[in-house]
Amino acid sequence: MSPDNKGIKVTNWASIANAPFPAEGAGNQTFSNLQLISVVAGIPAFLLIYFHFGIWTYPFLVILVGLPCFAGFFVINSKFATPWNNKVQLPNRKIEEYITIKDPTLAGYQGRNKIPMEIFFENYFDGKIDLNGDALEIMEARHDWASFEFGLGQLKFFLTQWIPETIWHSKKQDEDQVRDHYDRGDDFYEAFLGPRMVYTSGIVSDPARCETLEEIQDNKLRLVCEKIHLKKGERLLDIGCGWGTLVAHAAKNFDVDATGVTLGIKQTAYANNRIKEYGVKNPEQARVLCLDYRDIPARPKFNKITCLEMAEHVGVRLFQSFLLQVKDLMEDDGLFFLQIAGLRRTWQYEDFIWGLFMAKYIFPGADASCPLYWVINQLETAGFEVQDVDTIGVHYSATIWRWYHNWMKNRDTITEKYGKR
Ligand SMILES: C[S@@+](CC[C@H](N)C(=O)[O-])C[C@H]1O[C@@H](n2cnc3c(N)ncnc32)[C@H](O)[C@@H]1O
Repeated sequence: MSPDNKGIKVTNWASIANAPFPAEGAGNQTFSNLQLISVVAGIPAFLLIYFHFGIWTYPFLVILVGLPCFAGFFVINSKFATPWNNKVQLPNRKIEEYITIKDPTLAGYQGRNKIPMEIFFENYFDGKIDLNGDALEIMEARHDWASFEFGLGQLKFFLTQWIPETIWHSKKQDEDQVRDHYDRGDDFYEAFLGPRMVYTSGIVSDPARCETLEEIQDNKLRLVCEKIHLKKGERLLDIGCGWGTLVAHAAKNFDVDATGVTLGIKQTAYANNRIKEYGVKNPEQARVLCLDYRDIPARPKFNKITCLEMAEHVGVRLFQSFLLQVKDLMEDDGLFFLQIAGLRRTWQYEDFIWGLFMAKYIFPGADASCPLYWVINQLETAGFEVQDVDTIGVHYSATIWRWYHNWMKNRDTITEKYGKR
């Protein structure tokens, strides 16, 4: 950490893109559950008394009026809540210095009139807004030019898509969403994941050195195998194995019998090819199956099970039954390694805006992105004894920074083939 003139200490590690304005937005520190309950329960109660409706109408009024009140409460709070204990001094520049708005209907966003983030990204994707410089630098200064209030588009997405999908999570839904996303094209993913094709956080081993993406992903593969104490001859299952790199790595370097499972058809072909390319001694000892996790054959059991950022796709509703299934698939003395991306408990409105953005554009159907305490509670409820917990957010920052550089190098070729949106 080094002091600077912005009123806050910022980091200067070589391994990550150090945030110049680590601004903290408004969120749960100033949020009142009591106020929310008063609005959601109180307004229908007021209408009931005022119009002399019968008491039996109350549940209907809560659904009819309470839900819009719930949404309205978040919209108003996200618009007017002030950041809590925020010492970061932002540059205070005009919005025009960061972005160029080409659509006249958005002309009101000028000077210090910040643009809501959702309006920005939707119009940016539509080509109606340009960035005046490097995307990462502009996004680092986002609190200077954008506001984080809920808009109608995200509310509609939340009510009509996110909630039904979260409740449903059928095999068909998951298959459609996963294939539509991960089977877009291997070259699309190679453009930013690089040759390792690992679509989860890597691990930095030395913050003072700018390790390559390949180094930090190799560190991660090593660490996962170390954490599960992988030994020759064991049976390993990797649930949601992506392009199969962990399966191939484990089979080659630890001489284990490794099975990967993914829903992606192209991923499966790529992964089985990867096993061959890696020169696994006996080709019979590793394979990747195209299966829904619910259809993994229960016997014979596995000694070790890994699941790297797939459990988000399982969803909140099915999370506990997923963990019970994992427990059943594993020998009594087995070890389970779970890597999961979540939201912080000390939430900010910004987190929900990005959460809904992720659900729409990055990880459709991945609604089990919950705070750490929730995941641990679920694991313990399923009967797991939690041995070791690491929070690797800063390693993710290092990983995404490298994905970003790869993407910028390959952007033109990929947009030419796949289009801009
Ligand atoms: C974020 S990727 C992670 C891939 C891999 N673990 C890695 O580290 O690169 C999530 C993976 O979960 C898989 N997945 C999602 N839902 C699934 C389901 N219902 N059954 C099996 N695999 C699923 C996807 O196909 C994808 O391979």
